[in-house]
Amino acid sequence: MTIPTTMRALEQTSLKGPQDMRLVSDAAVPTPGAGEVLIRVEVAGVNFADVSKAHGLFGDGPQPPYVAGFEAVGEIVAVGEEVNIPTVGARVVGVGEGAFAEYLLLPAAGAVPVPDDWTAAQALGMVVNWPTALAALKPLGRIAAGETVLIHAAAGATGQAAVVMAKHYGAVVIGTASAGKHETVRALGADYVVDSDADDLAEQVLGLTTGIGADLVLETAGGAAFAASLQAARRVLGRVVVFGLAGGEATVSNGDLVYKHQIQLIGLNIGVLIQSAPEVFGALMGEMMRLIASGVLVPSEPTVYALADGASALTDLETRKTVGKLALRP
Ligand SMILES: NC(=O)c1ccc[n+]([C@@H]2O[C@H](COP(=O)([O-])OP(=O)(O)OC[C@H]3O[C@@H](n4cnc5c(N)ncnc54)[C@H](OP(=O)(O)O)[C@@H]3O)[C@@H](O)[C@H]2O)c1
Repeated sequence: MTIPTTMRALEQTSLKGPQDMRLVSDAAVPTPGAGEVLIRVEVAGVNFADVSKAHGLFGDGPQPPYVAGFEAVGEIVAVGEEVNIPTVGARVVGVGEGAFAEYLLLPAAGAVPVPDDWTAAQALGMVVNWPTALAALKPLGRIAAGETVLIHAAAGATGQAAVVMAKHYGAVVIGTASAGKHETVRALGADYVVDSDADDLAEQVLGLTTGIGADLVLETAGGAAFAASLQAARRVLGRVVVFGLAGGEATVSNGDLVYKHQIQLIGLNIGVLIQSAPEVFGALMGEMMRLIASGVLVPSEPTVYALADGASALTDLETRKTVGKLALRP
């Protein structure tokens, strides 16, 4: 197969937001270095982090101009030195910078085979949303059967997986979502759905838990909802796993933790977890594969946009119009 030298790609040209993304047709096709594989992108995953990066709000994020996107599925068309597996021809999903393009480099060690009978789009989620949701629930959140878990953005890509897995582990699930998305969350098996914009979010959760609070909170809402999440967590034994800040930064002081919110506060970044605790990640992926094999986690059906419509996809995600996973097809 002949690999071209240039390709179409979506370039972020400012830090003012996704509207400043433009389609270019002369981006350089990268060459795999040692330990890397080059895939021909079939479909790229859209993540909330892409929105954060477009606004310059992602810690250590790229400076414009940069090819956006970081998650994709595709066929391996070339491998670098020291790569024995996976081989050319394999279909893999992985994470690498510059996924909104026709070709993408992935670290060979992080390229996960697409299950045989899954489409490319269905495999999106396997390396970002699902492991993140599972990490928040299990190794970090220590979910146990009978416990109550509050899951923000429960109709979103990460939240949907979290709802399904939390129910599988025997938890009582309270999901939050915008008004038009409640039915989606209920259909996934959530026991209760609370409006994510509700001013009395904490009071509602306390009401649903006989005043005790949620044993575990998956906190991605940020902004004003962050304080509500802390308020809604069970005193002393309750865990709040913080892994997103869609509504913006929020603070908690040492005084708050001593006098107001006596809860267990845990930070999660899946990239750092992979780097700093590979044994935890390995166990996590093993568990995820078991959940897939047993039919608990089923392939998702992302909403697919054309690559040229990437800015619209990111804007829809940012303005809370979307349900489930979004994808771009180059
Ligand atoms: N730390 C990590 O490693 C990691 C990895 C993956 C994802 N995440 C985080 O997990 C969260 C979900 O990511 P995702 O890619 O799956 O996105 P998503 O959940 O599909 O979409 C984001 C959702 O967040 C909710 N939301 C709440 N407050 C919002 C606000 N002020 N602005 C926009 N949306 C708001 C919206 O749902 P409603 O309108 O229904 O409330 C929105 O649909 C994000 O915060 C993301 O950064 C973190």
